[in-house]
Amino acid sequence: MMILNLLKKFVPNPILLKTQLFVRYAPRDLLDKILGETEPLIPPRRKIFIGGPEFRQIGDEFFGYFRRYGEIQPHHRILDIGCGIGRMSRPFVPFLDPARGSFEGFDIDQSGIKWCQEHYRQYPHFRFQRADIYNKFYNPAGRVQADQFTFPYPDASFDFAFATSVFTHMPSKATARYLRETARVLVPGGRALMTAFVWNPESQALVRQGRAKLPFREHGDLIVIDPNIPEDAIAIRQGDWDDAVRAAGLMPVGEVMWGSWCGRENFTSFQDMALLRKPA
Ligand SMILES: C[S@@+](CC[C@H](N)C(=O)[O-])C[C@H]1O[C@@H](n2cnc3c(N)ncnc32)[C@H](O)[C@@H]1O
Repeated sequence: MMILNLLKKFVPNPILLKTQLFVRYAPRDLLDKILGETEPLIPPRRKIFIGGPEFRQIGDEFFGYFRRYGEIQPHHRILDIGCGIGRMSRPFVPFLDPARGSFEGFDIDQSGIKWCQEHYRQYPHFRFQRADIYNKFYNPAGRVQADQFTFPYPDASFDFAFATSVFTHMPSKATARYLRETARVLVPGGRALMTAFVWNPESQALVRQGRAKLPFREHGDLIVIDPNIPEDAIAIRQGDWDDAVRAAGLMPVGEVMWGSWCGRENFTSFQDMALLRKPA
């Protein structure tokens, strides 16, 4: 433990994380390869830097939400904000019409984007690109600040956009910028599904009672688990979330679908989920 804490001080987090994943999973990945238990659009375990081994299950779970709440259609143009290593893109492959539909993903992690670019080569309507944005957890050498970043797409170029488990790694000012950019690139009437950890009296009380799976604490302006690497996990105050949605010109569609992360007994998914719409 002491060695790990020492390493954490001197080794950039992405290098440490990916080394740990390699050590832990390389033998299992080799066995999968020998047994032929691999799938073209599921990365080997050692490369899944986005957390959690349930790559397929979580992708399928969210695809269900995108269909139900996002009302996605095969001809839609889809944007995956912070696409990681393609967990959410895989179920879109049999769904999207290659002639009319398309899928764009961007992320700040080079390895995930490279993996997606290589593995989706036979699906030219799926495109992935990297943005060199600073994030202490995922990209500490990044040159651009998230709260100043402009999505690399023209106005009104998507029917549906989503960010799953991305705002949970960004300060609220950056989240506000991303919501504004989402509104800009959506067509009028377009929808967005975003996840977050929303800090409100209910989640706060559950955390205080020790019921939460994630032990968030307030550190000055930030609500985080690890104040040394805030971007490891960040919650957003409900007032800041509501203000950011409003300032972006987006409209909430229904209530936030509350998550189980803070120990709620009635929930939709693990994180809180907001369905938003750009006015037509
Ligand atoms: C927990 S992973 C989730 C990845 C993906 N959305 C998914 O659900 O599989 C968080 C992702 O957010 C990305 N990320 C963090 N800050 C970002 C930013 N400012 N812009 C785009 N992506 C970002 C990270 O690189 C990482 O891939």
